Amino acid sequence: MYIDLKNRVALVTGASRGIGRGISLMLADSGVHVILTARSMDKLQKVKEEITSRGGNATVIPADIAKEQDIKTLFKIIMDKFGRLDIVINNAGIGIWGNLVDFSIEDFDKIMNINVRGTYLCCQQAMKMMIPQKNGYIINISSVVGFKGYPNQSAYTASKHAIMGLTKSLAVEAQEHNIRISAILPGGVETDLSFKARPDLDRSLLILPEDIAKTVLYLLSLSDRAMVDQIFVRRMSSSPF
Ligand SMILES: NC(=O)c1ccc[n+]([C@@H]2O[C@H](COP(=O)([O-])OP(=O)(O)OC[C@H]3O[C@@H](n4cnc5c(N)ncnc54)[C@H](OP(=O)(O)O)[C@@H]3O)[C@@H](O)[C@H]2O)c1
Repeated sequence: MYIDLKNRVALVTGASRGIGRGISLMLADSGVHVILTARSMDKLQKVKEEITSRGGNATVIPADIAKEQDIKTLFKIIMDKFGRLDIVINNAGIGIWGNLVDFSIEDFDKIMNINVRGTYLCCQQAMKMMIPQKNGYIINISSVVGFKGYPNQSAYTASKHAIMGLTKSLAVEAQEHNIRISAILPGGVETDLSFKARPDLDRSLLILPEDIAKTVLYLLSLSDRAMVDQIFVRRMSSSPF
């Protein structure tokens, strides 16, 4: 066990695979009851089975974060079932790649709806639960493109910059309620998404989802006197700027 988070309740969006799955497994190993959400029920059930086979606790609540009603229902179920929510990991996200000139506005809207609007709405619902608790931690998974730019990624990059703006503003707004908001900015993690985005990269050099999960646990291990606004985790083989 990395740190003792026994009996805390956490929501992880995009928990069905990749980084979200990695974070969910490690949170559950640390004693957290993890609420797993994404659209693919079958994959979420598999993650739940993995968690329970390791002695952990998880609940599956499928939701499409592009749909406001799904998000409202998700948080209502959490409130009814658990009555509290200590940690939210806003990890669900998509990438669609292509040069700006040929990029369709439908694909732009799809990225913004999931990555920005979905994350914003989850923060809104989380704050509504956490303010009365006077406690909580929200971690938004941004990206290296939350401060850098790459060709053929303008819509995705705009969405990850937006998540940084949301995180910075909400972090200050939430302070008076003893709620912390941080961003993790990974670059090149070994998942389906990075494989599609950068098929040129040697997969053996990519960051492991477990590395991002450990970064989450590090943030959660700090006392509520400490505030980390953002952590940039890059590939060892990449450049920092
Ligand atoms: N991999 C990287 O190199 C990298 C680097 C920096 C940042 N990130 C960010 O890290 C996060 C996770 O990425 P990943 O690499 O793990 O990607 P991934 O393997 O493609 O996983 C994405 C997750 O998001 C969920 N998701 C997508 N759309 C959703 C929706 N509308 N509603 C609910 N869940 C949805 C997916 O589940 P369903 O399809 O089942 O809904 C899946 O669980 C993303 O925000 C990504 O931008 C990744």
